[in-house]
Amino acid sequence: MPAIRTEALTKDYSTGFWRPRPSRALENLTLEIAPGEIFGFLGPNGAGKTTTLKLLMQLIFPTSGRAEILGRPVGDVGVKRRLGYLPENPYFYDNLTAEELLVYYARVFGHHGSEAARRAGELLDLVGIGGERALQLRKFSKGMLQRIGLAQALLNDPDVVFLDEPMSGLDPLGRRDVRELILRLRERGCTVFFSSHILSDAESLCSRVAILSAGRLIATGTVSELLAFGVGGWELVMTNLAAATVARLGLRIARATEIAEGHYALELPIDAAPDGLLRELTAAGAALVSLNPIRPTLEDVFIKKVGGARERATFHHGAHRDHREKT
Ligand SMILES: Nc1ncnc2c1ncn2[C@@H]1O[C@H](COP(=O)(O)OP(=O)(O)O)[C@@H](O)[C@H]1O
Ligand SMILES: [Mg+2]
Repeated sequence: MPAIRTEALTKDYSTGFWRPRPSRALENLTLEIAPGEIFGFLGPNGAGKTTTLKLLMQLIFPTSGRAEILGRPVGDVGVKRRLGYLPENPYFYDNLTAEELLVYYARVFGHHGSEAARRAGELLDLVGIGGERALQLRKFSKGMLQRIGLAQALLNDPDVVFLDEPMSGLDPLGRRDVRELILRLRERGCTVFFSSHILSDAESLCSRVAILSAGRLIATGTVSELLAFGVGGWELVMTNLAAATVARLGLRIARATEIAEGHYALELPIDAAPDGLLRELTAAGAALVSLNPIRPTLEDVFIKKVGGARERATFHHGAHRDHREKT
């Protein structure tokens, strides 16, 4: 049984006050996420990520299609208790301290008295702000608030967690902490569904990802499947290389970058075996510094796919789609 399943999930918002008309934010999203997966839901701003998460949390309702969590329709009360949710821009009462807020939520989840305080303390420590528990939230930075949001999402020890842009607003150290936290959730068998427009985070975390653009799913698969799709090449770095020699290479190389005097990075297409060129250049007096395959990043694949989808959309649908692409 999948942990999360959506079937042709579609959402139209009604926009325009005087002449309301439907604007499609999500179109026929069909996805299956296995239990224990860390699933990255990727896409540029306006792609429909938050809309999908809100549909799964039943904060809004679909125009058509359906969604199930843990084998039950979304909204099932028994299942709701087993979910955690970090909204995109969590809002908290400024005047409460971190501890007060968490104790409050712990009570909402059914913990009483000292048990609620103990649970709140545990979660604050887990997200690394145990030392700031007595501080009012208005003194917290964006990164610290994000951690409070995470603590809140994990209070009920959920089986499935939905995180909407959990890394946004965090500095590199904060992002690393969130990554480690997500990995710990996986160790406990928790299913994590997180949205992000920061691809490097997904690359290092996810078992599988989906790429959404303008409301449509344009790719899904494991990170390595998606990366295999992009064709790389070779990067050959040489020193003692004369500019005239580089100039003579012409179309045999895709690009030459001079790093320092006589020191070049040459990019070769993937189908050109680098050993022949390496021998020639060595014979001409150059020395090898390094030779590496150029591995495409998720970012390369993303730009290619999203770019392609945008071009097709413009071509086929023309002006009809413009109002949806104001990102
Ligand atoms: N409440 C709303 N009313 C009308 N349009 C909305 C509403 N919420 C989102 N949208 C539109 O739906 C599209 C998808 O938005 P969203 O799901 O927030 O994208 P993402 O989270 O990927 O940035 C955008 O074009 C956005 O303007
Ligand atoms: Mg969003």
